[in-house]
Amino acid sequence: MRFSITKIQEDFPQLKGGSEHYLDSQATSLTPRSVIDAQDAYYLKARANTHRAIFKEAALATDLYEDARTKIANFIGAKREEVILTGGATESSNMLVRMLDETPAFWGSGKREIVTSVMEHHASLVPLQQLAKRKGCMLSHIPLSPGSVRLDVKSVEGLISDETAIVSVMLASNVTGTINPISEIAKVAHRHGAFVVVDATAAIGHIPMHVDDLGADALFFSGHKILGPTGVGVLWVRKEMLEKLQPAVFGGHMISEVTKDDATWGDIPDRFEPGTKNIGGVIGLGAAVDYLNAVGLTEIHRHVSALTKSAIEALDALPGVHVVAERDTELNIGDVSFVCDFAHPHDVAEILGRNGVAVRPGHHCALPYHVELGIAATTRVSFYLYNDEDDVRGLVEAVKKVRALFAD
Ligand SMILES: Cc1ncc(COP(=O)(O)O)c(C=O)c1O
Repeated sequence: MRFSITKIQEDFPQLKGGSEHYLDSQATSLTPRSVIDAQDAYYLKARANTHRAIFKEAALATDLYEDARTKIANFIGAKREEVILTGGATESSNMLVRMLDETPAFWGSGKREIVTSVMEHHASLVPLQQLAKRKGCMLSHIPLSPGSVRLDVKSVEGLISDETAIVSVMLASNVTGTINPISEIAKVAHRHGAFVVVDATAAIGHIPMHVDDLGADALFFSGHKILGPTGVGVLWVRKEMLEKLQPAVFGGHMISEVTKDDATWGDIPDRFEPGTKNIGGVIGLGAAVDYLNAVGLTEIHRHVSALTKSAIEALDALPGVHVVAERDTELNIGDVSFVCDFAHPHDVAEILGRNGVAVRPGHHCALPYHVELGIAATTRVSFYLYNDEDDVRGLVEAVKKVRALFAD
């Protein structure tokens, strides 16, 4: 399908009747009709539990659920049995940490260092902090390059050592949009035998992505950021490791044998998917992946980069407005955060909202990053495939209104 903004906009029902300029896709994306239809089709025609029954609807539900797993696996260049379907990125991140925690062999070598970055989202950072406390690990953070929104990748050589068990870095920032050189970091990590975890939540659906190219050993994301339903996410772990990890959540479907006193686990990935999952949500996520593939991630990134560039240039031209974003828009997934001399980010966002511009103020669950950048909060604009230059114009006009209100 050729990239046609008119056609794309027609596919998203909420663009008619919602905020005139939806610029909050990094918080959650809008949903195309095809994803809503795929979810509805499950509820209308295949409403049954998966894997546990052989009647017609149950077989259909299982097929749809497992087809979605295959689509998601292909989307990130993974094997289908490596893909664990979860409730979202936060659940994936916590589950992974728990799985590592519960696997004595992982800690057998005595490595007791965890390396992450100052840029991470709390969903990734906080579980690692808790893991470090439980295991008595030293937690260190890749810093920012001075005066920059980017990580100081040169510092990685000094931070990662033979004592490093885990290196966990996000693929792109959900605040400044900057894309991190994960494969470079992963090379250093692997030279020291460390396990590489990638939070792909902000980046996925914005740039083509392949787990092998990244050099990741585990990766996670949420479905709702890439046109999918809420309440569904993915945890991918490389097969060789996944087979060794202990499950962290227990219940039905995951077992091989159960006696009164003990249980053994089923195959991967079932072993990590106990209980009834968000079946309709997973099917919807499969449809979201179809949609993104049809439009093309390279095209999406090109389109979003152009809007990001326009927004940065337009905001730079406004007195008293300071952009806090990756300025090489090829390396930005579409986030433009900013601060204003004349108003607090919450006031900016409120007035923008009143003018039909949907944006988000705050620290965006990345408090340490804001501290490193020397700011308490930002107003974040985030673009996606359905935005256009009219959204940039709407944004700029609304920021001018905020200035007129506060600056005088
Ligand atoms: C980079 C990043 N990681 C993790 C998360 C957590 O995602 P969720 O709230 O869907 O669990 C987010 C959500 O904003 C995010 O931006």
